[in-house]
Order: sequence, then structure tokens, then C-alpha cells
Amino acid sequence: MAGRLPSAWLDELYARTDIVSVVSSYLTLKKDGRRYWGLCPFHNEKTPSFSVNPELNLYYCFGCKAGGNVVQFVMEMERVSYLEAVKLLADRIHMALPEMQEDPDWERRRSQRERLLNANREAARFYHDRLWQPEGKRVLDYLHGRGLDDGVIRRFGLGASSEKWDDLTSYLEEKGYTKEELGLAGLTVVKGDSAYDMFRSRAMFPIIDQYNHVLGFGGRAMNDVKPKYLNTSDTPVFNKRKGVYAINLIRKIRDLKRIILVEGYMDVVAISQAGVTGAVATLGTALTNEQARLLKRYAPEVHLAYDGDEAGQHAIERGLDILEAEGVPAKVLYFPDGLDPDEFIRQRGLEAFQALRPLTAVSYRMQRLRRQYDLETQEGRSEYAKACAELLKKVKDPVDLENYLELLNVQTGFSREVLLAQIGVSSAAAQAQNNSSPSRETIQTKRSRFPEGYRTEQTLLALLATGSLPAGMVKETDFSQPIFKQIAARLLAGEAPAQIISDPDAGDEMRQAAGETFSMLTDSERERAAAIAGDCLRNLQIQHLQQEINTMTDLMRTAGTAEKRAEALKEVSSLSKELARLKQQGR
Ligand code: UTP
Ligand code: MN
Repeated sequence: MAGRLPSAWLDELYARTDIVSVVSSYLTLKKDGRRYWGLCPFHNEKTPSFSVNPELNLYYCFGCKAGGNVVQFVMEMERVSYLEAVKLLADRIHMALPEMQEDPDWERRRSQRERLLNANREAARFYHDRLWQPEGKRVLDYLHGRGLDDGVIRRFGLGASSEKWDDLTSYLEEKGYTKEELGLAGLTVVKGDSAYDMFRSRAMFPIIDQYNHVLGFGGRAMNDVKPKYLNTSDTPVFNKRKGVYAINLIRKIRDLKRIILVEGYMDVVAISQAGVTGAVATLGTALTNEQARLLKRYAPEVHLAYDGDEAGQHAIERGLDILEAEGVPAKVLYFPDGLDPDEFIRQRGLEAFQALRPLTAVSYRMQRLRRQYDLETQEGRSEYAKACAELLKKVKDPVDLENYLELLNVQTGFSREVLLAQIGVSSAAAQAQNNSSPSRETIQTKRSRFPEGYRTEQTLLALLATGSLPAGMVKETDFSQPIFKQIAARLLAGEAPAQIISDPDAGDEMRQAAGETFSMLTDSERERAAAIAGDCLRNLQIQHLQQEINTMTDLMRTAGTAEKRAEALKEVSSLSKELARLKQQGR
């Protein structure tokens, strides 16, 4: 099939396809209210959080946030492309495939993507085959020398790039790929008329996504050549901030209890060889929010297992921040003596690895803080206790809290009551006190204020999507979150929620945000849409005012001249009156 599916034909396919019966052929659904519920096929769970909404024609999992329409569901379940999923659905209801419409631009992008992915797949095969040939002997010896056996080499599809400068390029050119395509795929370096292989004399790690597409490569140098690892730079099919190494293998594991996130490709392969399943790595960058969301779909917990050196430990703290922000339960595996997971498991064995006790995020952070203060001095103990109190504010579980308090009591000598008081004090004083460094302040702002406004905007967007609000009540400018703004603009332009979710060009982020948002309202909330929207709008206004007041208050303290300070004071008092008025209205 070439070209684009006519929208009238697609509309008919959607209208005639019953999402409930499609989903039911994969899992058991039970009706509750207007929705159907079942155990999510995309993550492990014991109580159903996977919902299907036949009115909106979409599915959404409240646990792992997977969501979309019936086509995306089939894509995920069958691991097929958009067109293949559409075909399967059309077959199911015996609908004839349409004549494809010509849409040269879309077609160009789609077929280019396909060709680049095919080139990558051919390249991966080529590199893998080379391993068993004389050209790859040096790399094979290297991999064996690092303790890998042929089984694990095959499982990860490892390969060898040879010393020849155009080994792969000439092979793929013979297969009909142009220099331009190979350049775009990041396989070949094209300079004027000359073209040579990007990767030479390296052990090749193909990066494969959850649909089994080969997106790019990491290549390990054989000796002291720099860089040690050469990675495919971003291409039309590869984005190092979105992908995760070995996610293709994770996907196949049923009931995975935790993902082990390591720093290096070699760590993933080495611990897998030793018998540990569920390891993945980022692609040469620090963990991103997108990657955290991807991981969340495959296991209920992520264990950060970065190198035991200072750089690795620092990266763990940032990794924990990201995972927490995305609501992914996280723990830490700490490797002693600066070892990385590969070195640890080879030197000390699988049993020692399995005996490592994962630290909770709070324990880990307390341990890190402890090194910053001198607990021999009264001042050090006080500062340490205060810093820990800050962490403990977030602990919800009373038993956990009690354990941490006990530890802190032993370490600092402060009584449980004093520590508890500090936890209370610091939460109230967090905003007012001005003794934290700028970077800490921004993190606090993000944690405390952002989610609140985010939630309100999301509710407002969900209400807008019901289509039952009075015209003009909600405007695009009521939203500050870029993704919500985009979705609002489309809704206000008359697009139906199902249309937005079915748009094959909408990115993952939009689809996920839309799926989550359109599924969040209960029936009774939908019935009281206008009243709730009024509350949301007022709350947003209150939040904005509060922010302005905070800014002005800061200015009042710090402004250079007495005149400016007086101005700010006046501004604060009038904003405060406005705020009081709004809050009064809410009663
Ligand atoms: P490390 O330097 O920790 O290497 O890089 P390693 O995993 O221990 O590798 P070996 O054991 O020496 O073979 C960890 C990760 O950082 C990225 C790669 O993704 C690597 O797997 N990296 C490292 C690069 O992208 N480029 C480099 O030059 C080095
Ligand atoms: Mn290593």
C-alpha cells in the first residue's frame, strides 16, 4: 500500500470497529458504568486499571498511562506498523482496502523512514555476520575476552565493524541504498564525493526499539581510540533522548518485577550474560523524562544501578529526581569500590549481585547527605538533621518514617519529637525562608507548584473535551502547559477527542496526554462540567495571583531603592485583596 488512507474510509473503519470487542479478543473486560475494565496488557498488575471507553473509542491505563485508540492498541499488541494495524482491523470486519490517496509529502516521509529502518536492519545483520568472519575476528576475541559467550552475543545481536573504510557502505550501496540515505541513517559519513563507514574497528551494539526496529548503533572501540563509544547521532528514526537500550528484550519478559537501569551497553550485556534479566541503559545521555515514562510501562519499579564512582552517584540523584517527577517508584543499587555493574558481577559473581539490597530513594539520599556534613560537630549534626527533615517530608508511610527517624536519632542525637517538629517546620517555612541556593529553589518550585497547576489545567481540558461547556468559557490562553495548549487549540477548532487521539501524526507525548486527560473524568463530573470548569478557572486565577504575589514579595525584599520597594508593597497589597476576593467567591 502506498499513499495515504482516505479519511472517509478511515472514518468508516472507526465507526464500524467496536473497540470493546477488539480489546476483548486479547483480555477479559468487565463493564462498570460507561467504561470497561481489565488487567492492563502493557504492564503487570493484579487489580484492573486498564479502561476502555467505547463512547470516545479509546483505551487508557491509569497504571502505566498507555493509551490511544483501537489502531494504536493493535499496533502495541501485535507490534506492527500503523498501516498493518489498519489492515488487520479492516480484515476483521471484511472491509475492502481503499485506493490510497496520493499525498507526496507524507508518503516521502513515511517511505524514507521505512528505508532508513531497513538500511539499519541490513547493517545490523551485516555487522553480526562479520563477527564470524575473518574481518571480525579481532572484535569477537575482544567480546570473548570480556566474558561474553556466543549465546549472549546472538541475543543482543552484537556485531563487528571491520577496519575497511567502506565495508558497510559499499555493501549497502550494492543493495540499492543511496549515499544520501546512508548518510541520513548515520551509517556513512558523506563528504563531497567521498563516503566512508561511520563505524570502523568497533564492537557494534544495535539499538532496537520495542517494535523491533533497529534505530541506530553504539560502537565500542577496541583499544584507546577516542571516543570509547561512538553512537549514532540523531537521525529521522533515532533520538537518543527517547530510546532505551535493550527495551526490545524487556518487552518480552512477563511479570518483570523491576527494571535495572545501568549506564553502559556493556553493563546490560554483561549482567544479562550472568543471568540477571531486566537490564536496560540510556544511550550515552542522562535519563530523560521521556525515557522514564517508557520504562514505567514495562515494570512497576526501576532500580538505578549506575557506576560506583562519583559521576555515577551524582547521576543517580538526578535520575531519582526524574523518576520521581514521572511517578515511577525507584530504588538504588550501590556498587562498592567505584565498580560498574559489569565489573562487579564479573569480579564478585551473580550471588553477590543478587545479595545487593536495593536502597530506597530516601535512604540513598540520606546516605549521600551524610557525606556532606561533619557529624562530629554540633553544627554538622544540626545541618544534616535539617537537610534530612526536608527529605522526610515526602515520606507518606508511617512505618518507613519511623525507621528513618530512628536512624536519624542515632546519627544526630536529636529526639524523635524534635525531628518531627523540624519536618513540620521546614514544610511551612520552605517558601518563606530565603536561605536556599537558587538551584534548590527552582527544584522546590517545580515540585510544589507545578503539579498543582498542571492538574487543574488537565481537569479543565478534560471538561472542555466533553463538548458540554458554554462556548467561549475556556480559551486556549487559559492553558500554560504547551501540550495542553495544543490539545485545547485543536478541540476549540472543532476536532473531536477521538480524532485527536487517532491522528497518526500526533506524537507519543500528545497521544499520552490526550489519552490520560480524556479518560480522567467520572460520570458525575461530566454531568457537572460547567460548574467544575468554573472552579478550575478560578483556581488557575488564584494560582497565577499567588505567583505574582510571591514574585512581588521577593522584589519587596530585594529591590534596590526604597521607592521600588514601596511600589512593590502597594502591588502586593492590591494583589492580596484581589486574591482574598477570589477565594471568597469560591466558598
Ligand atoms: P562508560 O565509560 O562507563 O563505559 O560509559 P562502560 O560502560 O564501563 O564501558 P566499558 O566497560 O569500558 O566497555 C557508559 C556509557 O556512556 C556512553 C555509552 O553509552 C556507554 O555505554 N559513552 C561512554 C559514550 O557515549 N561515549 C563515550 O566515549 C563513553
Ligand atoms: Mn565498564
